[in-house]
Amino acid sequence: MVKICCIGAGYVGGPTMAVIALKCPKIEVAVVDISVSRIAAWNGDQLPIYEPGLEDVVKQCRGRNLFFSTDIENHVAEADIVFVSVNTPTKTQGLGAGKAADLTYWESAARMIADVSKSNKIVVEKSTVPVKTAEAIEKILTHNSREIKYQILSNPEFLAEGTAIQDLFNPDRVLIGGRETPEGQKAIQALKDVYAHWVPEDRIITTNLWSAELSKLAANAFLAQRISSVNAMSALCEATGADVTQVSHAIGKDTRIGPRFLNSSVGFGGSCFQKDILNLVYICECNGLTEVANYWKQVIKVNDYQKNRFVNRIVSSMFNTVSGKKIAILGFAFKKDTGDTRETPAIDVCKGLLGDKAKLSIYDPQVTEDQIQRDLSMKKFDWDHPIHLQPMSPPASKQVNVVWDAYQAAKDAHGVCILTEWDEFKTLDYQKIFDNMRKPAYIFDGRNILDVAKLREIGFIVYSIGKPLDPWHKDTLAVA
Ligand SMILES: NC(=O)c1ccc[n+]([C@@H]2O[C@H](COP(=O)([O-])OP(=O)(O)OC[C@H]3O[C@@H](n4cnc5c(N)ncnc54)[C@H](O)[C@@H]3O)[C@@H](O)[C@H]2O)c1
Repeated sequence: MVKICCIGAGYVGGPTMAVIALKCPKIEVAVVDISVSRIAAWNGDQLPIYEPGLEDVVKQCRGRNLFFSTDIENHVAEADIVFVSVNTPTKTQGLGAGKAADLTYWESAARMIADVSKSNKIVVEKSTVPVKTAEAIEKILTHNSREIKYQILSNPEFLAEGTAIQDLFNPDRVLIGGRETPEGQKAIQALKDVYAHWVPEDRIITTNLWSAELSKLAANAFLAQRISSVNAMSALCEATGADVTQVSHAIGKDTRIGPRFLNSSVGFGGSCFQKDILNLVYICECNGLTEVANYWKQVIKVNDYQKNRFVNRIVSSMFNTVSGKKIAILGFAFKKDTGDTRETPAIDVCKGLLGDKAKLSIYDPQVTEDQIQRDLSMKKFDWDHPIHLQPMSPPASKQVNVVWDAYQAAKDAHGVCILTEWDEFKTLDYQKIFDNMRKPAYIFDGRNILDVAKLREIGFIVYSIGKPLDPWHKDTLAVA
């Protein structure tokens, strides 16, 4: 029986391995992590991450051929294929701080593999890593090898949180990069054989190692660039009276452009886009490609601009101050159907409003109060370290109140901000919300999910990103 071990039981390691175990009943899959509480949660009733369909998959194979454990060394020693899916956060200190990937966790995983291995292994990079990381990993493993042979493969993960199980069941493609030697090709084939249990062969792409590593960074940069492009258009739409939804629809009909990833919003978030673009920028700079680095940097700058613009719009429409005013924040996760808040635009929007002394009442169906308080007090990039290494829970801020119901959040509020596109926000009773708010009552739709005309009929002053402005907003300072 082939044995797989995955180091890192997070948003990628957990779901990916659960699907491999489900689709390959003859392969034994162990997912290991240094976080005792995370492993306990994977073995319990309340899984550590929320992902539609995940619980069902885990329940079908946990204890059969899927195991979650903190006994890292034994499982690694016994495995034929070791996936490494640990955090690769942005460096916060030293050379490349604020841009380069911090490979501390990767390196320690590689050293541990070298220490405990007693048989030849295929080591698979699942984490997103800078180009040429495989070379560094290879050096660590071969310099400590004691006659053991390693093959390093790059197999970056393209799943999107919120649709991870669907993406894993039916991936657009699986990418495997390896050495162009006979041994490298043999290792590629071994991993291909795993995926071939359910992925059609023409969707399994094989490349050299560096192409695979770079393709992951490039894919995220292209996706984020589309969002920043449409968000840049949204500012122009507001200035001219065009409607960004209509513009997106019109351009998306062009088959060369396509309709997906053209929704304007308060900005992109998630643990990957910003981190991976910063990483790409750093690699370009290290290779002397300043113009290329500046091109990609702009994608992040537009994203920051969009979040600032949103905050400024709120403050300027409320007579240039939100001091002491209650603002309801509906949605805190970086997108619907996940509880993940890493890099969520809600953090910057809330911090902007808190900076202007607003009182926030926050509701998200999947994010806990502790997580929200932690996010609003944590330093940039700290969120992508393993949770046990993050700062302890801070004392709750008096300006922030976390509630478990949208109506409660909006009660007596001056304004409501939609920051995550949760489906339940589309069907709230906005008449009831309006009746219980202070007047004038504002809605700021950062995800363009609400029926603007209906809300205006109820009496709200509405701001919806990239849509023709309410006369009220036209009269207030347009902001950059
Ligand atoms: N989240 C996504 O949607 C996504 C998608 C594609 C790729 N990625 C990439 O995958 C990687 C993992 O991302 P994630 O979201 O799953 O992160 P995560 O923080 O959810 O999980 C990483 C896990 O690794 C564990 N870990 C760290 N060092 C370890 C070690 N030495 N031994 C054992 N366990 C260790 C941590 O405790 C943590 O539980 C990152 O490189 C990320 O960029 C993420």
